[in-house]
Amino acid sequence: MSEAINIGSVDSIEEGEAMVVTSEENGTKEDIAVFHAEDGNFYAINDECTHETASLADGWIEGVEVECPVHAAKFCLKSGTALCLPATVAARTHKIEVKDGELLLYPDTPAV
Ligand code: FES
Repeated sequence: MSEAINIGSVDSIEEGEAMVVTSEENGTKEDIAVFHAEDGNFYAINDECTHETASLADGWIEGVEVECPVHAAKFCLKSGTALCLPATVAARTHKIEVKDGELLLYPDTPAV
């Protein structure tokens, strides 16, 4: 398991919003989007859509899904699964934990 990165307090991402932890910050080759979903939980998946080039953090969150802002593919925030075309490849997930009100991100450790 990778080492945890403290990315801030739970209050730093409002419900229904997302933030990007850049590759420089997370130590991997890819930016990671951290979502505060409408179920109240936090989820982390690669920020770049698997279809073309788009930031999923800029997409629309509905329940525990995010819709890509460019061509409207949807991804499950829990599993990263691509739920509809045009995306067919899952987004990689990363484990995230809440501890003492802080968000701990484990880059490259799958969430599921
Ligand atoms: S870039 Fe995301 S669906 Fe096309």
